Amino acid sequence: MKKNIRKPTVVSLFSGCGGLDLGFINAGFDIIWANDFFSEAVETYKKNIGDHIILGDISQIKSSEIPNDFDVLLGGFPCQGFSIANIKRSMEDERNFLYKEMLRIVKDKKPKFFLAENVKGLLSMHKGKVIEMIVNDFKKLGYKVDYKLVNSADYGVPQQRERVIIIGNRIGVKNKFPKESHKNKHITVKNICGDLANVRTRDLPFSLDGKTIHNHVARTNVHDKFWGRKHKVNQHDICDYLKYWRNKKGISTKKVDEHFGYAHTAGHWFRKDNNSGSIPKPEDWWKLKNLLGFDDKYDKQVTELELKEIKFEQSLRINNWDRPSDTITATGPEIHPSKKRRMSVRECARIQTFPDNFVFYGSLGNMYKQIGNAVPVLLSEKLAKTIKKYL
Ligand SMILES: C[S@@+](CC[C@H](N)C(=O)[O-])C[C@H]1O[C@@H](n2cnc3c(N)ncnc32)[C@H](O)[C@@H]1O
Repeated sequence: MKKNIRKPTVVSLFSGCGGLDLGFINAGFDIIWANDFFSEAVETYKKNIGDHIILGDISQIKSSEIPNDFDVLLGGFPCQGFSIANIKRSMEDERNFLYKEMLRIVKDKKPKFFLAENVKGLLSMHKGKVIEMIVNDFKKLGYKVDYKLVNSADYGVPQQRERVIIIGNRIGVKNKFPKESHKNKHITVKNICGDLANVRTRDLPFSLDGKTIHNHVARTNVHDKFWGRKHKVNQHDICDYLKYWRNKKGISTKKVDEHFGYAHTAGHWFRKDNNSGSIPKPEDWWKLKNLLGFDDKYDKQVTELELKEIKFEQSLRINNWDRPSDTITATGPEIHPSKKRRMSVRECARIQTFPDNFVFYGSLGNMYKQIGNAVPVLLSEKLAKTIKKYL
């Protein structure tokens, strides 16, 4: 007879449409309570995962309304509160930080583990002070805390997506992160979306190779305008020119960066290489001229701009068939490698490793947003399995 083993339990904050939660469910966890204030994401969550999600602002929900005695608290707390513009104010007024909500619930409920996901930029914010503050706050509650920057592509997700994973536990064990199973064998966009490439996008679900395909809908704005240089400019010439003037002035690239408040940008202006070399944008060019005192030789070429049409074939944000996708963001998907449209909602969902039977609800923009916000399901499942070993 099969023993009725209790599954470890999870409470999930900032759940969105449920990417992180689905990975934990796949690894054998039971999600007993979840929350988000984005109504279309909550609708998607309810219809695919369960009714245990509550629509509402977490800062307005009392701890007493959240169940007690669960094993893991999840939360991809949003990082808007940490944006550069807010940072000064935020460091002074720490209540602005939504992670404080997560901290409150860890403090009040004492789960065995917590796991948070955030953008890579969290590590460099305020010269590392923000992450240090977060880690220390959780440590003060008696948790052993570790974090790691992971790239989803290294875990079998067909996407270059770098995110910080913070794990804490109060049961005295080492926090473990899953092994990078696909470090040198990344999955490509073609592997995962090839079958949809020649299938017309449409609102209604349809059948393909015995499977039902939902949400194969896409934005079609592949022509766009952008401000581009009016004249032809050769990056190698500009690079030689700038190097000459920088040497003449006796200033290091690092000093140039410091002058601008950049981290590595100036390095690209002094690098003669077709992949990573770049020409300063006009406002930087004038600032650089003040710093290095160069003549007018390239002023016109570098700084005169005009409004140009982007052709979809030329777009820089085109997805590549033979590599993992670039990061799927909440704002807008990449252009399809061979079609005159953006990646469809279903293609983005596959790149985020949602199964085909996970159906998204809401406006086109809001479906893209739910997917772009999510933790890839496969990465989440791998994280969940490492935690489950202890429970
Ligand atoms: C990065 S997304 C999390 C995605 C989710 N972990 C997943 O894997 O699908 C952050 C979520 O926090 C939600 N959120 C932001 N502020 C909130 C608040 N005050 N109360 C509740 N949810 C909030 C947003 O609506 C968004 O869905």
